[in-house]
Amino acid sequence: MTVTLITGGNKGIGFETARQLVELGHTVYLGARDEERGGKAAAELGARFVQLDVTDDASVNAALATIDAAEGRLDVLVNNAGILGDGPLSGPKALLVFDTNAVGVVRVTEAALPLLRKSSNPTVVTVSSSMGSFWAVTNPERPESGLSAALYSASKSAATMLTVQYAKANLGIKFNAIEPGATATDLTAALGIGRPAAESATTVVRLATLGPDGPTGTFTDELGPLNW
Ligand SMILES: NC(=O)c1ccc[n+]([C@@H]2O[C@H](COP(=O)([O-])OP(=O)(O)OC[C@H]3O[C@@H](n4cnc5c(N)ncnc54)[C@H](OP(=O)(O)O)[C@@H]3O)[C@@H](O)[C@H]2O)c1
Repeated sequence: MTVTLITGGNKGIGFETARQLVELGHTVYLGARDEERGGKAAAELGARFVQLDVTDDASVNAALATIDAAEGRLDVLVNNAGILGDGPLSGPKALLVFDTNAVGVVRVTEAALPLLRKSSNPTVVTVSSSMGSFWAVTNPERPESGLSAALYSASKSAATMLTVQYAKANLGIKFNAIEPGATATDLTAALGIGRPAAESATTVVRLATLGPDGPTGTFTDELGPLNW
């Protein structure tokens, strides 16, 4: 049985990823910062709820300790939790967006690494964004070039780079970053864009179910490699 942890699993792309991985037979730990919303989501899917706020070291460490006690290992980590942080820029808002979208990846990955090292096929998927691609935001032919989301873009550039650096430093573990595709979720509600989360989740699931010889250190969307 593959043991999988998904952060931000109570709604959106994370929730649909949890649903699809449960259907594939994974033991899914659905991480959410809110006990009530997370517990309800996990119960609906047949997943296991763990309280997990990616900005809180104690919460992250407790969640991984719960998985360690029950499973003794972790096979798949999906770093999915994220926020847009739109509106006027400020120092506190920048700290919150980077804490969630970039530092959160470090917090959860560092807590998960000892358990991932006990897996025979360890895989980490970071749900990043093409908004963090320098190529996409400077390419007039790409929709990202017409969108302004400074803190989101910069924090997702960091999330992608962290993924590449983790891949280089941990050769036995696959680390891949993805752009899931424009998706209609609470995160994009103000933009009114995107396809159903279940469609985008298939890209997350594809990277979360790679075999031992699968790629590492990549940044892809559903069509293949994306430029950095
Ligand atoms: N939608 C798109 O078009 C799109 C495109 C590219 C990349 N992405 C990425 O896809 C991922 C999922 O986003 P989504 O579109 O599914 O948005 P969403 O529906 O707003 O879901 C975001 C999830 O992250 C959780 N979260 C936020 N802050 C958290 C924290 N501090 N600790 C733990 N969980 C936290 C949210 O929990 P709460 O319910 O408690 O807020 C929610 O479960 C994000 O990383 C996003 O950047 C989305």
